[in-house]
Amino acid sequence: QPTYLSDYRAPAYRVTHTELTFDLDPAATRVKARLHLERHPERQAGEPLELDGEQLDLKAIAIDGQPLGADEYALTERGLRVDRVPERFLLDTEVEIAPEDNTALEGLYRSSGMFCTQCEAEGFRRITFYPDRPDVMATFSTTVIGDAASLPVLLSNGNPVERGSLPGERHFVTWEDPHPKPSYLFALVAGDLKKVEDRFITLSGREVSLQIWVEEENLGKTDHAMASLKRAMRWDEETYGREYDLDLFMIVAVNDFNMGAMENKGLNIFNSAAVLTHPQTATDAAFQRVEGIVAHEYFHNWSGNRVTCRDWFQLSLKEGFTVFRDQCFSADTNSAPVKRIEEVSFFRTAQFAEDAGPTAHPVRPDHYIEIGNFYTLTIYEKGAEIVRMLRNLVGWEAFRRGADRYFARFDGQAVTIEDFVGCMAEASGQDLDQFMRWYSQAGTPEIDAHGEYDYANGVYRLVLRQRTPATPGQPDKQALHIPIRLGLVGTKTGRDLALTLDGEALGRDAVIHLREDEQEFVFTDVEEAPVPSLLRGFSAPVKLHYPYSREDLAFLLANDSDGFNRWDAGQRLALLALDDLIAAHRNGVEKVMDPRVVEAFRALLDTDTDDKAVLAEMLTLPSEAYIAEQQPLVDVDAIHAARLFVKQSLALALRDDFLRVYEANRLDAPYAPEPEQIGARSLKNVALSYLMSIEDEEGIELARRQFEADHNMSDVRQALTLLTHSSRGDLADPALRAFGEKWAHDPLVMDQWFSIQVMRPQSDALDRVKFLMDHPAFSLTNPNKVRALIGAFAQNRVNFHRLDGEGYKLLADVVIELNRLNPEIAARLVTPLTRWQRFDEARQTLMKAELERIRGEALSPNVYEVIEKALA
Ligand code: ARG
Ligand code: ZN
Repeated sequence: QPTYLSDYRAPAYRVTHTELTFDLDPAATRVKARLHLERHPERQAGEPLELDGEQLDLKAIAIDGQPLGADEYALTERGLRVDRVPERFLLDTEVEIAPEDNTALEGLYRSSGMFCTQCEAEGFRRITFYPDRPDVMATFSTTVIGDAASLPVLLSNGNPVERGSLPGERHFVTWEDPHPKPSYLFALVAGDLKKVEDRFITLSGREVSLQIWVEEENLGKTDHAMASLKRAMRWDEETYGREYDLDLFMIVAVNDFNMGAMENKGLNIFNSAAVLTHPQTATDAAFQRVEGIVAHEYFHNWSGNRVTCRDWFQLSLKEGFTVFRDQCFSADTNSAPVKRIEEVSFFRTAQFAEDAGPTAHPVRPDHYIEIGNFYTLTIYEKGAEIVRMLRNLVGWEAFRRGADRYFARFDGQAVTIEDFVGCMAEASGQDLDQFMRWYSQAGTPEIDAHGEYDYANGVYRLVLRQRTPATPGQPDKQALHIPIRLGLVGTKTGRDLALTLDGEALGRDAVIHLREDEQEFVFTDVEEAPVPSLLRGFSAPVKLHYPYSREDLAFLLANDSDGFNRWDAGQRLALLALDDLIAAHRNGVEKVMDPRVVEAFRALLDTDTDDKAVLAEMLTLPSEAYIAEQQPLVDVDAIHAARLFVKQSLALALRDDFLRVYEANRLDAPYAPEPEQIGARSLKNVALSYLMSIEDEEGIELARRQFEADHNMSDVRQALTLLTHSSRGDLADPALRAFGEKWAHDPLVMDQWFSIQVMRPQSDALDRVKFLMDHPAFSLTNPNKVRALIGAFAQNRVNFHRLDGEGYKLLADVVIELNRLNPEIAARLVTPLTRWQRFDEARQTLMKAELERIRGEALSPNVYEVIEKALA
């Protein structure tokens, strides 16, 4: 039952205008729909009308006012079919749905007493019968009727045009959205909500009312989201020339939400975790995440809503581009180098793993069973990396011209990735045909690089060889067009050397283009022996192998002019040392710390940098997950032991330096989520984590005091984490108890409390998960809770991968239960089990047994698709 890209056809009928009336009731909501339909000009007359519909109870149906007899329509597995319809007609339907039973959180559902919707990708068909596909775009007029006392606020897309009271203590509001939109952008919210209001004057002088709607107790947590929204609106005007196009822009916070947020036209709906912040409840990372997501959803108004996707295979058209836009926005408002480091370090850990696993897929897939499974790191983040390469290939000015062309030409249309790249090719005059392969080929390309310096002639030869490993369904790969930004760093001067390639002077930092399987680049007039600094800024989403010596890496760490590659040199140096220690652990040999790493870290701690956030990243060892990515076979225990050993060795050798850095970066000023403060806090908290790794008495005292000082959540959370994860058994429980009691009333803080405990390296982590699943603050129907407790535990590498298989069993039990309640979340949660090929035989057997056990259930399409791929 897969859907194929190659089967695309225009819809037989299109909807020009949609009128909806909701009569809200938790158990029996009535939805009346009047669709203005007409035959699509590209399709012939006389074809049946087929509408999507799921879990709908049809109460009435009429065409042009004439009720249809039972033999004039058919209810099918997909929805509704009417064999004989006119060329242009009105279709009226009335259905009943039960929002209170909707635990999948797709369509219309209840969350904390309110009604809300999530329609992307295919949730609208759970609201009414409709051609639920993005290439059907209609204007909407929506009347929401509800109980006046419990649902004082009734919202939908566009502008409110009429309101009034009705008999039986009910009232209504009618909304009109003048911009044609696909059904996935429809939204409705009804509840007892309070708003925070602000306004924005657009570049052309129009006033837009900005509203953030929350439950009353969250009124004090919207400032940062509002400020972020205004910055994002200004940024899109200044950077892309894009203005907002309605008089009203609303954001609503809901507690039960499958993803981060949703860009519904004029009415963005957010997971409360992605919008609410307060210095006492949200960490610096959470503040930055909120800023990024608010911007992301806002940017969709153009890249997604005004110009949308022809079909769901084009999902990255809107998501990759919009992620790229939000990344650039965040880089502009924060520390740009640290933003890039965070992006890449996440990407290389999580997207590379996806690309290497059984669910690997191209950025534009060619088939799927359940589109809900394709909201992935590949579609989003790799899609963004492709757009970033495009920007770098054609240059910002041509890219901006291409974007203008794209928005102007396709405004109000549903289009394809070719349409987007085509605009870039036209605007730049460049041939992007080979580049398009990035969209159709799955897997992470690997580049083997080798360089040689010829002293006598002052020539540096760089040989690059590319290969992309086979992925499911794609055994053979073609060569990609890979832009590689590089510099040659002179070993005498420590400076970037002038680059001359084929007689052309390229400056000191240049991009070379790898298009063949293998290519040699000959740089002439190279005055001194260089160390190559390759793939600067992560100029392409590839794995680059170069036989660097530890001396080379220490040299780049100290001298590279590219901040990103300086950081990466440090990571590579640490990885080499870790490799030795992993081997030593496996062979039962005594571990010895590489003094070169200690000296490199000592030098870092001595540097006087203004970008403390970057320094904090440089002092952070590669995560266990990233180390695992580098290993042919993952040995979780050896990786954990080796990393801990490096950390402790550095802490012992550099204890006084870490103490000094801690003291130098304490802040007494009131909390502000600003780059300078964030940098100082990260640096201080990294230093503290080293001190705590050796149970240093002074370190413990500092952590305790930081916890008790309760200055802001970043500091408190780090202190609580270090106390909870310490091998000194007496530190965890008093702190956890105090924190749990203090924040019992705040679900978002309790999520953090859950995660911290189940991420403990101690062997009681699994028992804690089981215990906490019965905690009153936990609920299996709330996706945030599931992620905070079960999802976090699955990232606890040593404990999830316990050799008795109990970690796997627990995850599978939860997946089986969620398969019934919330298939989208279940299919995501099972991911760690699908990576079984990466582990030793004993664990493989255990993981596969759990996958088989899941397969034995009556599965949702979501879980079925993932399990079948994992066991293929
Ligand atoms: N378009 C939303 C965003 O990226 C995500 C919605 C995903 N919905 C889903 N059911 N998977 O901002
Ligand atoms: Zn998005």
